[in-house]
Amino acid sequence: CDVVVLISGSGSNLQALIDSITGDDHPARIRAVVSNRADAFGLERARKAGIDTRVLDHKAYADREAFDAALIEVIDAYKPQLVVLAGFMRILTPGFVRHYQGRLLNIHPSLLPKYKGLHTHQRALEAGDSEHGCSVHFVTEELDGGPLVVQALIPVESDDTPESLAQRVHVQEHRIYPLAMRWFAEGRLRLGQYGAELDGQAL
Ligand code: GRF
Repeated sequence: CDVVVLISGSGSNLQALIDSITGDDHPARIRAVVSNRADAFGLERARKAGIDTRVLDHKAYADREAFDAALIEVIDAYKPQLVVLAGFMRILTPGFVRHYQGRLLNIHPSLLPKYKGLHTHQRALEAGDSEHGCSVHFVTEELDGGPLVVQALIPVESDDTPESLAQRVHVQEHRIYPLAMRWFAEGRLRLGQYGAELDGQAL
């Protein structure tokens, strides 16, 4: 299964995905990492792993449509079966999302459907939640609203801060994203008519 990963920043999730592909029997291969920022540290991680990197600066395009069209062209040159958003901080157009329908995954640092968008750790603290976590989901046109694939939960402690939560959530992200990528690459995970399915069972 050929995979293209989109990033904007540190790329710790990208690293977890890279590190999870050990041995010849893993069905996923990351063919390219694409960033909208030239200074994204994740690009270093990709280069170190011998993976092709491409930078597409969104500011060089007139609008979202033009940027996304260019992005599709770059991605599709690698003919991926799966596109993985790993901290890609641009909102994608409906046209882009439709183009990769059923083969576009995202990870979000909250227990969706709670806290779509930004500042999720802060919002979980302010709400007094006793549990927090992260979610992998198929991407649809609704921002952070696509069918769930897998979630990980952490307990919220009384002395937690947004930073301490972010740190513990990240550990879980690095566990569940490789899992979801592997399921997809093995052909076990798909987007069905009514949502995500694993081994033919609704998730
Ligand atoms: C993660 O918290 C992810 O959930 C969110 O963006 C962050 C990316 O972190 N979508 P990293 O670049 O993978 O370290």
